[in-house]
Amino acid sequence: MIVSITLNPSVDRTLFVSSFKPRDTNRVERTETDAGGKGVNLARVAKELDGRVFATGFLGGRTGRIVQQTLEAEAVEHSFVEVEGETRLNITVEDGQGPPTSFNERGPEISLHDWSALCDFLEELYPAATYVAMGGSLPPGVPADAYLILQRAAREYGCLSVVDADGYALQNAMREPPFLVKPNADEASRYLRREVKTMEDGLAAAREFVTRGVEVAIVSMGAAGAALSSPEEEYLARPPQVEAVSTIGSGDSLVAGFLVGLEQGMSFREALRLGVAAGTATAMTNGSEIGRRETILSLVKEVQIEPVDG
Ligand SMILES: Nc1ncnc2c1ncn2[C@@H]1O[C@H](COP(=O)(O)OP(=O)(O)OP(=O)(O)O)[C@@H](O)[C@H]1O
Ligand SMILES: [Mg+2]
Repeated sequence: MIVSITLNPSVDRTLFVSSFKPRDTNRVERTETDAGGKGVNLARVAKELDGRVFATGFLGGRTGRIVQQTLEAEAVEHSFVEVEGETRLNITVEDGQGPPTSFNERGPEISLHDWSALCDFLEELYPAATYVAMGGSLPPGVPADAYLILQRAAREYGCLSVVDADGYALQNAMREPPFLVKPNADEASRYLRREVKTMEDGLAAAREFVTRGVEVAIVSMGAAGAALSSPEEEYLARPPQVEAVSTIGSGDSLVAGFLVGLEQGMSFREALRLGVAAGTATAMTNGSEIGRRETILSLVKEVQIEPVDG
């Protein structure tokens, strides 16, 4: 089973306007609302692929219920610690003229009591878990080294940790390297303090994560695909060219496909193929919608995998 932890889930609301004027009244032509947060996306995509997955973390208030309803509607098994504040609402304004404008809330304050409740609940899940995936921003109140604490607990039960984080959270997690990290090019570049632009840079970056102790590193490169490094094998994966609509959640989808693949006994090579297909399927959907099973499976054959000769 994959346990997917989202400490700071969200409701993502996208407002479509014909032209965005700050400090003025903007007429909204259409809105879209979806559940978000890396672990929530991961769990939904894993479920789409018939993976065994359980989603947990913190939820609160009316926005928290929207996330819960989304998971229920898709039959994703879940149970979140209910917190006093409201799950964050992230607003994105799309005017089709260029990159969107986003407003991201910080998230509800997590008390020590909430944090302990989650840690206790996880102790019940770990025995049945193979992979424990965690990622995304930390809400106020959780320990700064939250991922490191969760990784340690998961390791006690023999679970393999997967961390998809940026900046300080990634740095911290790397103090005791997890099984898998999946930074995108920008995240890898910030962490390693060097340029990651081409697939070759991505591969070198993935290798560096392996040198620093992770068992598998996948550096995702957007439309170009992804580079995987592990001590035994390395691959470059290239998705077919598609019309990308919104890449929000693509990285989470890649992780979901990869883990479901491994759970189903696939090799790194085949799991990477499934992961990249899932990422690409999500890139083809609106806002924070996720790629659906049929699209993912139709893309699998089209992903090109090139082994790298050591
Ligand atoms: N424009 C695109 N066309 C085709 N596939 C894409 C595109 N963008 C992303 N993908 C697919 O999704 C995967 C992950 O994308 P990306 O590197 O953008 O992740 P990310 O930045 O971590 O995303 P997020 O954090 O929003 O989930 C890529 O490896 C690729 O397979
Ligand atoms: Mg990402």
